[in-house]
Parts: sequence; structure tokens; C-alpha cells
Amino acid sequence: MCFSDYKTLVSQLNQWNHAYHVLDSPLVSDDEYDRAFRFLMEIETQHPDWILSYSPSQRVGAVVSSLFDKVFHEIRMLSLTNAFSLDETLDFFIKAAKELSISLNECLIYSEPKLDGLAINLRYEKGVLSCATTRGDGQVGENVTHTIKIIPSVPLQLLTASPPEIIDVRGEVFMTKKTFADINEQLIAKNIKPFANPRNAAAGTVRQLDPAIAMQRPLQFIPYGIGRYSLEKTFLTHKALMKYLAEIGFKTSPHCQHFKADRQLFEEDFARMAALRETLPMEIDGIVYKIDNLEQQQQLGFIARAPKWAVARKFPAQLVGTTLLAVDFQVGRTGVLTPVARLQPILVGGVMVCNATLHNMDEIKRLNVHIGDYVEIQRAGDVIPKISRVISCGDIAESIVMPDACPVCLAPVKQINNQAAFRCTGGYACSAQITERIKYYASRRCMDIKQLGAKLIEALCDQGVLKSVADIYRLQMSDIANLDGHGEKNALKILASIEKSKKTTFNIFLMALGIPEIGEEGAKNLASYFRSLTNLRQATEEELLRVPDVGVVTAKNIRSFFSDIMQSQLVDELIALGIHWDDEPQLEQPLSGQVWCLTGALSIPRQEIKAALEKMGAKVANSVSAKTTYLLAGQDAGSKLSKAQALNVKVIDEAQFLALNSEALNLLSLHQGSEEK
Ligand code: IVH
Repeated sequence: MCFSDYKTLVSQLNQWNHAYHVLDSPLVSDDEYDRAFRFLMEIETQHPDWILSYSPSQRVGAVVSSLFDKVFHEIRMLSLTNAFSLDETLDFFIKAAKELSISLNECLIYSEPKLDGLAINLRYEKGVLSCATTRGDGQVGENVTHTIKIIPSVPLQLLTASPPEIIDVRGEVFMTKKTFADINEQLIAKNIKPFANPRNAAAGTVRQLDPAIAMQRPLQFIPYGIGRYSLEKTFLTHKALMKYLAEIGFKTSPHCQHFKADRQLFEEDFARMAALRETLPMEIDGIVYKIDNLEQQQQLGFIARAPKWAVARKFPAQLVGTTLLAVDFQVGRTGVLTPVARLQPILVGGVMVCNATLHNMDEIKRLNVHIGDYVEIQRAGDVIPKISRVISCGDIAESIVMPDACPVCLAPVKQINNQAAFRCTGGYACSAQITERIKYYASRRCMDIKQLGAKLIEALCDQGVLKSVADIYRLQMSDIANLDGHGEKNALKILASIEKSKKTTFNIFLMALGIPEIGEEGAKNLASYFRSLTNLRQATEEELLRVPDVGVVTAKNIRSFFSDIMQSQLVDELIALGIHWDDEPQLEQPLSGQVWCLTGALSIPRQEIKAALEKMGAKVANSVSAKTTYLLAGQDAGSKLSKAQALNVKVIDEAQFLALNSEALNLLSLHQGSEEK
């Protein structure tokens, strides 16, 4: 046996694996596969230096550390605009056709099931899987190669003799309904909380640190597009691209259709997929309609975080009836009491529902709902189930009343300015508010303290160890190791992730403080406007009003937050405990004096890149000359590229532009954020 025989054996096994898991038509018996696999293992034991990363023996690797590496998406991973009716779907494509200056039925549509899982980017370099990444915030995801490479329908090696230098294949990782039910049954038997739905189960599995556990929870992958790629050939249509992905080893959806944009055809396609839905092995939550012509896609580009050439037509919410057993009041981080319906447990679309939100007292009045009533439950996608109406009144007919006192701290409950919301007046003395504030601060969207989950925070608050957000940074090993199920090793991991969170960004820190009305976009705007905490703290209401999207209410909230002694002290404490960030980039013209020129096909619409460059102080010229500082060249660049090369003008591609220039990224996202409104 020489190395090249070993390599042939690896490819042979990968081919058999593809035939079995992707094509559903095995080429050899299980016995034969097993024999060949055992032989492979023997060779690899004798020649460990031969082992190829794409050998089937390499699917299950070692346990990874608790912190996933961040990976930058060279081309952003986008989301989709939703359409909830035929008219909304048609309107979407009428607009697109208008922009393309064609008639609606000249648009060819490619229809695909909208798989309900999580988006993953698979990077292949020279045909070999090198990295699998979650979508994250669209720009930066997490490296989850260790669990993704276990998925048998993810090829470790592309089945082509001439693989592209690089290709990012994007698609959905999901768990079948059957696997989900089996896993939940096992979890329940072990007294472990089951997963709420197949999507959560898939996401939880992908983020497992131990591949051996992930291995017991089979997942699948179906591609729906690509990101960056360097291919000799180009594709004219999405359909052709999907055919190519199938040829190089991916399992593509067999339920796609291709038709002219037309009311009746959309209607028929929706009925077809709705009928198919129950029979499919996996959950789908709608249909994705895409303009098939890739040049038209390119022309249309994107708005905010979604393409203008694809729309998700969502299935209507699923409805079932059950009995309202009781109503509890939950205290949120700002003290608002939310009524939560406790229901006779019921299955809705494969998910066991026990609770539903009732929003506020106005909603209860509007529904005229009483305890004991038989109510309709509505569940759509990942939205929290809600009560949509009373089907029939029960015998008890007990009214639902807002308690006078907070169910947690017993402080009086007051209605807020005659609004529907009621608030616990306990403030910092209410342990529920404190716990919720800490949960919010540590959550993924905020400081992202990975190991400090909601359950652990609750336990630490119950023990009296955490009494404020700042206490997170005073946690000692013994505080954690004393809790059930948390040994010293685990405690160390938790402390490490707390330590890591100290390095953050100004906007994330601002969001984590939980200033009313300040979410992700608001915090970004404030951070880039004021650039330092000191500036922001000193800002008057008048100054605050100059920040994009800050209105009178928000400005007042910000002022009263920083004038509150307790809040202000907390901010000081956090900074003293080591929370820090790099300075915000100066918004003053980083590219002033530079002349840029754009050419070729770019994934972000040209006018957006141009606007971002101009915002950074660059001039954007239509042609290349000796004065050009940079040529930003997209795919299929032509004469401008040759001219730039002849004149020795620096040429960069879109990925380099975005990767090298964080300011470009910031400005682009800001620019796109403002377009969203
Ligand atoms: S296309 C630029 N196609 O839905 C277009 N997405 O709600 C990007 N999804 O993040 C998406 N099935 O994770 C596309 N056939 C499909 C899909 C699909 C499921 C997911 C995807 C995306 C999310 C948006």
C-alpha cells in the first residue's frame, strides 16, 4: 500500500458515502463499506502522517474549547423579506420587475422549500472542506466545523476533478421531525428539558462542544446558494448553480419548481408546497421564491439585510385549541409585568406548547378571556405562541386580574401613564428585575458571555451571589463550583468566558446597559456619534437629538439613565472592573484625498459602495487614470482592470475591501441600516 492507493481508498469511500447519504442509492452493501472503512482505519493507524483532512475517518474529531472562533463572512450572509399573502408576494416581484424594466411574467421564478433550520457557510478550498461557519450577525459567524463535518450530506471533498480554488456553499442545516421526536423522548426519559423545536435542536447540536454528542443527533444539510467563489465557469441562472452544487456532491431539494411570475402559478405553487408540508421529513416554514436569472439578481442587489430578488412566502400560523389553566405574571428587566397563560399542554406543529403570552391587560380585555376557557393557540415560526381567541367559555369563568403587589418582591404595582403596561415599583430591590437585567446583559446579543446562561444566572441570583450586573465580574471559582452540576473545570470555563467579555465594543456595552429604547441600531448610532462614554454621559438632550433616529423620548431616556445615581455608579463600577473597548473610529474622512474607481460585478449595489466611499472622504471616479488610488474590482472585471494594471494602480477585490477596512464595513452597515427605514 502506498500513499496514492490510500488516497484512492479515501476518494472511493467518499464516493460511496455520497451515493448512500446524498443520492439515496448505495453503490455497495453496508458490509462492504464497513470492511473498506476498517481497512482505511488500519492504514491510518500504520501511517498517521498520511491522514487526509477529508478522510471519512476525520468526520468525528476531538472536543473543542468552549469558545468558538469568530469567522468573518467575506460576503455577508443575508436574511429574507417575508411575505404573508399572495398579494404581498406578487407586489414584491412587481417592484422587482419594474426596477429591471421588464414585465412581471418575463421574470422567471425558482421556488424552493424554506427549510426551518440554521444557515451555515461551508468553505471549500481546492475542493476540500476547510471551515464551516454559522451566520452569526451576517458579517461575523462562529467556526463550527467540528460538528458540521459529522453531517454525512456535507461533502468533505467535492466530487469534481477540477474544484474551484475557493467556494463558499451556503445552505440550511436541519434536523428531521423524526430525529427531533426521538431525541426529545430520550431527553425526557433522562429528566432533561427537551428541545422546543427541531430548529433549536439543530442549533444546539451544531454548537455542541463534543462531536461525539453531536454524532448522536443526526443532522442534514441542503444548499440554497453560494457566497464567495472563484470558478472558471459562470452560471446564468440559480437553477444552473443548484445543478452544479448537486454535481459536486450536495444533496439539493427535490421539491424545487421553476415558473413564470404569474398570480395563478404562485397560487398553485403555494398550494402544492402546503400540501407537501406534512409529508416532508423536515419542518418547512414557507417557500422561498427567487428570481432565477443571476444577472437580474445582481442588478437588483440588496436592501438592508435582504436581497431584492428573493422573498420568503411564509405559511400561515398554526392553530389549535386548548384550555387556559391559569395566568401568572412575569416581571421583566424594566419591571413591566407580563401575563403568561399556563395551558393544558398541546402539540402545535410538532412542538409541545404549555405557555403562551397574553401581552398585557388590554389584550386580555380585548380577547375577553377567563381562566378555564377553551382558547385558540397560534404559533408562527419561532414567535412565542399566543392566544388568538376564546373558542368556548369554561365553567370556572375566573377573571384575570393584575396583582396589586409584585409577585416576586411584593412592592406595589403601578400602571404606567394609563398605558396597558403595569410595572413593579421595586426597582433595584426587586430580585426579578435584577435577574432579568443580568440575563439581558450577558445574553448573546449583548455582552455574549457564552458560559453564563439564563439558568446559571438564576441559580447564582437565588444564592445571593449575583446582586447586580457588576457582580458578574466579582464571581469567584467557589461561587460557581458550589452549585449543583458545576465542577471546578466548568467553573474555570465560566470564569474564562466572563473574563473574555471584558473586551467589548462601545456600542455593545451601551446596548447591554439596557437603556430603555436603545437597541442594536440605536447603540451603534450613539457610539459612532459620541465615540466615547464621557462624551455621551455629558451630552445634553439637544445634542442627543442630533444623533440619527434619536427622538425626544429616547433622548430623555438616555439623559435620565445617566443622571440616575445607581445606574451611573453601575457604569463606573463596570469600567473599574475592567470592561474596555478600542476607541470608536473617528468619523472624520479616513479616505480623504483618495480616488477610487469601481468595476465588475459586486455583491453590494454599486451606489451603496459609492456612497460609503464618499462618506469616508474618497472621490469616486468613473474611469481609471494615473490619479486613481484604488480600483475595486468585482467579478468579470474587464478593460478598467487591464488599464489599472497597466498604470500600476492598486487593485483590490470586494472581500479585501470589506475585510481590510472595518470603517468601510461600519459605514456600509450604517448606510444600509438607514435605508431599512
Ligand atoms: S436564500 C440571500 N433559500 O431562511 C438569500 N434561505 O429567513 C439568503 N432559508 O437565513 C437566503 N431555506 O437560513 C434561502 N431555500 C432557501 C432557504 C433559506 C431556508 C433560511 C436561511 C435564511 C433564512 C431567512
